[in-house]
Amino acid sequence: MTETEIKKGLAGVVVDYTAVSKVNPETNSLLYRGYPVQELAATQPFEAVAYLLWHGELPTEAQLAELRAEERRHRSLAENVKAAIDLLPLDSHPMDEVRTAVSVIGASDVTGGGSVLDASGSPEENLARSIRLYAALPAIVAYGQRRRRALDVVEPRDDLDYSANFLWMTFGEEPEEIVVDAFNRSMILYAEHSFNASTFTARVITSTLSDLYSAVTGAIGALKGPLHGGANEAVLHIMSEIGSADNVVPWLDRALAEKRKIMGFGHRVYKKGDSRVPTMKAALDTLIEHYGRQDVAELYAKLESEFVSRKGIYPNLDYPSGPAYNLIGFDTLTFTPLFIASRVTGWTAHIMEQAASNALIRPLSAYNGVDERHIAGYVPDAATLAAAARPAEQS
Ligand SMILES: CC(C)(COP(=O)(O)OP(=O)(O)OC[C@H]1O[C@@H](n2cnc3c(N)ncnc32)[C@H](O)[C@@H]1OP(=O)(O)O)[C@@H](O)C(=O)NCCC(=O)NCCS
Repeated sequence: MTETEIKKGLAGVVVDYTAVSKVNPETNSLLYRGYPVQELAATQPFEAVAYLLWHGELPTEAQLAELRAEERRHRSLAENVKAAIDLLPLDSHPMDEVRTAVSVIGASDVTGGGSVLDASGSPEENLARSIRLYAALPAIVAYGQRRRRALDVVEPRDDLDYSANFLWMTFGEEPEEIVVDAFNRSMILYAEHSFNASTFTARVITSTLSDLYSAVTGAIGALKGPLHGGANEAVLHIMSEIGSADNVVPWLDRALAEKRKIMGFGHRVYKKGDSRVPTMKAALDTLIEHYGRQDVAELYAKLESEFVSRKGIYPNLDYPSGPAYNLIGFDTLTFTPLFIASRVTGWTAHIMEQAASNALIRPLSAYNGVDERHIAGYVPDAATLAAAARPAEQS
């Protein structure tokens, strides 16, 4: 294999079909099951989008009511999950906390019969597992933030829908409608994005016939990195470093001279701008107005215009969502866990799609290590010599 045949980072490689979402960088569009994500964010509750990703169609009123009832049944923080989180150091990263919690939920779900051969589950079992995880994650994320602030668990409220209840469990206060709306939009925008690194990780794990929880746990590991989900957290660190719009130019001069990556800008697929940004930016604007934080608007606009004019690289979804989550009151370390709570819907839709039409994902590599060599004094036996004579295959 020659160097030019290697697609570093699988860039540009089409690995499989998916019917879950379509990213079109040419038209700057993102469709979930055919619907533009902007339309979904403007009109739907997050629950309806979760249903759409799993089932391929938006729910009827009765189907939405059924999903909401099921979600409410699994909203509380399970005792064993809380106990596991409480064992972790207070300064462990919330992504590690959520990854551990998902592992505990998986290990506690014995519907797989305890055998690795049964673990991958039927489509019905995997849908039920998906709903349970999606329902359980807000309590886990909310508790993580409250634990770090030395606050008790807030029990869920049955009279609140998903997004409002998520904010209630995090802050213990009745959330304002405008805040719920901005948060709901962010949940929808983060829900799905085709074969990104974490979704692909989930599909690779599923392809071995491993179980849904293992696939989600692995996906969380992939999402943690700052080149992927961790960027929304990193945007806030950058904004705190800069401080105010007046400092943008000298800060950017220095950062670019040091060849730093400016978090919240750039995308592997979108090269002319991320289709989700205008919707999230509009949600951020409503929050800026609501909280009276014109300083945030100025810093946001100045960094964007300076960076785009110098590098021609546009903001991605993390650029507006980072400051939006900050204004709502989430700790910076909680931002990427919020991404998990949303993306678990897309991950699980892909896990079920992969399981329904599976092929083990196992690419090849080109070896560029040292040439073959041998242990001094080693004499191979006859079977080893015979095996070495057969054409080599990778396993
Ligand atoms: C997302 C990202 C990994 C996409 O990367 P990619 O498609 O592999 O593109 P590359 O990293 O190869 O970047 C191509 C060029 O643009 C530059 N570039 C890309 N994003 C940049 C950024 N945010 N800041 C500074 N330079 C950037 C690279 O340094 C590289 O320059 P070079 O050709 O002089 O080496 C990259 O844009 C990035 O690291 N962004 C910041 C992290 C982020 O916001 N991630 C969230 C993604 S949704």
